[in-house]
Amino acid sequence: MELNGVAALVSGGASGLGEATVRELAAAGATVVVADIDADRGEALAKEVGGVFVRTDVSDEDQVQAAVQAAVDTGKPLRAAVSCAGIGWASRTVGRDGSPHDLASYRKVIDVNLIGTFNLVRLAAAAMARTEPANEDGERGAIVNTASLAGIEGQIGQIAYSSSKGGIIGMTVPAARDLAAVGVRVNTVAPGILDTPIYGRGPEAEAFKERLAAPVPFPKRLGTAAEFARLVRALLEISYVNAEVVRIDGGLRMQPK
Ligand SMILES: NC(=O)c1ccc[n+]([C@@H]2O[C@H](COP(=O)([O-])OP(=O)(O)OC[C@H]3O[C@@H](n4cnc5c(N)ncnc54)[C@H](O)[C@@H]3O)[C@@H](O)[C@H]2O)c1
Repeated sequence: MELNGVAALVSGGASGLGEATVRELAAAGATVVVADIDADRGEALAKEVGGVFVRTDVSDEDQVQAAVQAAVDTGKPLRAAVSCAGIGWASRTVGRDGSPHDLASYRKVIDVNLIGTFNLVRLAAAAMARTEPANEDGERGAIVNTASLAGIEGQIGQIAYSSSKGGIIGMTVPAARDLAAVGVRVNTVAPGILDTPIYGRGPEAEAFKERLAAPVPFPKRLGTAAEFARLVRALLEISYVNAEVVRIDGGLRMQPK
């Protein structure tokens, strides 16, 4: 699917994987809507790439609808939606002190990561469905969601995060099947450990990231946000990839901790 001249929407677009995706899609010729709760970084990036910033909490129906509308209002057909917004959380199902996992934080992670992703899928796909087909396949758009290796092999303390990412993996096939009728594809990327501000900044964060890279088979380093963005672009552009979950992890298989 051609990205030049289309509108694209990236949630979590103000930082890390989302930011790299915004840059990649803009470089491909798309007009990008940066949807994020971080207005300072989001606005600056949108300005830099000639896109539009919309302050958006992905778990909020009206705010995501407003972001989708901003994409429609660019006057270009909305053809690409990428969900990168996400939050982490670390807590065991039952803690060392015997106390159960806090339910409010579990709900919050599900709300942002899983419901937020579905919220964007349903609203972006509805807008894509109203466009004219882009090519002879009858393709109207493509969606890429971001899961995690934790959605497949979650580590100790990742119960909330893993549940949310497992849900994103689980929605990939039924979403692709539902949206086949309107010519919209759905794929999911499952990253291993990619170098973004999610691990913090400064010398401590650098030392932590070095330890994280140790079990990666090859290349023996963290992945980059630019590598993630190139994969997302390929999934958007190559029309025959659909309903797939693609790992980007240097061959890493997560251990229990
Ligand atoms: N970096 C990694 O190693 C890694 C690995 C696996 C999965 N992921 C996933 O990739 C995605 C991007 O992560 P990242 O590493 O770029 O992190 P990041 O913290 O750099 O970026 C996340 C962005 O999401 C935004 N965000 C948070 N809550 C939001 C909400 N409710 N509505 C809208 N925006 C919101 C933040 O403001 C931020 O700009 C996340 O879903 C994360 O779980 C990252």
